[in-house]
Amino acid sequence: MVQAHQRFPACDFLDSALAYVLDDPSDLGVAAHAIKALDPSMGWQRRTSGLNGSENYVERHANGMVCGPGGIESRYDIQLGFSLLAPLTRYPDHQHLPEEAYVLLTPGEFRQRDGDWFNPGIGGGLHNPSNVVHAMRSGTVPFLALWCLLI
Ligand SMILES: [Fe+2]
Repeated sequence: MVQAHQRFPACDFLDSALAYVLDDPSDLGVAAHAIKALDPSMGWQRRTSGLNGSENYVERHANGMVCGPGGIESRYDIQLGFSLLAPLTRYPDHQHLPEEAYVLLTPGEFRQRDGDWFNPGIGGGLHNPSNVVHAMRSGTVPFLALWCLLI
């Protein structure tokens, strides 16, 4: 990932993405309010590598790092953040050694390996065992998913 303490064009979709769960009385709403509160100090980053990303995906996404390298709390034993995609954007296939859990806060789809795309639903998620190739994509609305990696 390219690290930069700056906002990117896709950050403009944050509010419309958070709106899906902002008034939810569950932990999803709590998480949305926390992301909103942390937005001004977020460590925004973008992925610039990987296969099969949609055209202009670099400009059409942003990753917010809460805990982890370049994050609000810079540390290396855990990474907690989220991926924000503009509408009609496919994030590149990628993989990493740490296991990962995603929780979806908007409509959207995931895929593992070359399997079918699936939508786990808002509040649903995806577990990626170590080194499994995976990707996500938005439909006609923005995509927002929390992720956590245990290093
Ligand atoms: Fe991932």
